[in-house]
Amino acid sequence: MDKFIIRGGKKLSGRVRISGAKNASLALMPAALLAGGTFHLSNTPGLQDVATMSSLLKTMGMKIDLNGDVLTLDTRGVNKHEAPYAHVKKMRASIYVLGPLIARYGKAKVSLPGGCAWGPRPVNLHIEGLKKLGAEIKLERGYIVAKAKQLTGAKIHFDISSVGATGNVMMAAVLAKGTTLITNAAIEPEITALAEFLVKMGARINGIGTNQLEIEGVDELHPADFETIPDRIEAGTFLTAAAITGGRVTLENVNPEHFSAVTAKLEDAGCIAEVQGSNFELQAPAELKPVDATAVIYPGFPTDMQAQWIALMSIANGTSIVTDTIYTDRFKHVPELERLGADIELKKNAAIVRGVKKLTGATVMSTDLRASASLILAGLVAEGETEVLRVYHLDRGYEAIEKKLRAIGADIERVSGKEY
Ligand code: UD1
Repeated sequence: MDKFIIRGGKKLSGRVRISGAKNASLALMPAALLAGGTFHLSNTPGLQDVATMSSLLKTMGMKIDLNGDVLTLDTRGVNKHEAPYAHVKKMRASIYVLGPLIARYGKAKVSLPGGCAWGPRPVNLHIEGLKKLGAEIKLERGYIVAKAKQLTGAKIHFDISSVGATGNVMMAAVLAKGTTLITNAAIEPEITALAEFLVKMGARINGIGTNQLEIEGVDELHPADFETIPDRIEAGTFLTAAAITGGRVTLENVNPEHFSAVTAKLEDAGCIAEVQGSNFELQAPAELKPVDATAVIYPGFPTDMQAQWIALMSIANGTSIVTDTIYTDRFKHVPELERLGADIELKKNAAIVRGVKKLTGATVMSTDLRASASLILAGLVAEGETEVLRVYHLDRGYEAIEKKLRAIGADIERVSGKEY
């Protein structure tokens, strides 16, 4: 297990290229199960989660090769239809194979993901949606065991807007007989990208980008190539890094529309933002104003930026309230930020963040991906040395984060090989 050592206090300045979106790749890759042939996914990020999805799909007989940022998937040899616990426990997004496997092969056995670092994360909406399409689903010894001779179109309303359930049900419905109507569908950009990829494969989907998807099933899909959208959460994290260090950073290869809720909050905090085509520049103010943020579904402020926002607000000039309505227990970063001197009080699903003049270095522990990002951000501004342990969480979702940060002036190094 590696750790990071950060010597804080350097203003970040320069250009950073943002990678392809983790959460888009993790949906696009299993979608390839829906057709036989060779696919190319460009702008694929080099991440541990992408490697985990590759290794899962390989166990099913897919051939996968990452060359630079182009992922080639050859699905012709797929002959197993199971996602074992060993993979699903590493990465919940493994559940994305369920819909495609039922739709194309008529059977699937997928381990239940269980809870995660910040509490329960059910998959009931995935299962109920697939059942509506006619799949027979049983839960057996921790596995979802599903079969279906032929899925048929249905009306599916999600009580809660779910990225994963929308993706899974959409992937199944594209090969169902007849028309499926999904209402209260998720409209996160990664779901829109998945829908566009499916259309390139021959699917018929109306309402892409809205919360009402109408899918007319087809008999067969064909392979397609697709460029993965830029990672809006990596973008937001680097913008926050610029803001927390009082720096000025230009992001390359981004879609600013995808993180406009984060930009609006950064501007409220006093930052100056400028869009330059697919680049985006942010200049931090001398002093950050306190700004409340509430994590909601897209296009609102993302839950995947909540931890980073708390880190930023911990040195703002005043008190702010950061609330999470998506994952109400997602606050494992708070006690770790307190080790660095942050003043934060938790009340149910809200953090009351009283800005302090400065943070000071300490040893802190990563607990999950975005919590770890918030600790890196705090370390970048803390006086002295901060050690962030268990950085494998970061490697799941940030490509070469320390190299990208070093290139814009951060003093951060990875120490490998021991039990931290
Ligand atoms: C995806 C993202 C994750 C992000 C989250 C919310 C991927 C791989 N991960 O996760 O980074 O934090 O969206 O934007 O894309 N829910 C149910 N039952 C279900 C499914 C979800 O009650 O069957 C609830 C969840 O507990 C949560 C809410 O729905 O409160 C939204 O979760 P969902 O959008 O499904 O998140 P994921 O797809 O797991």
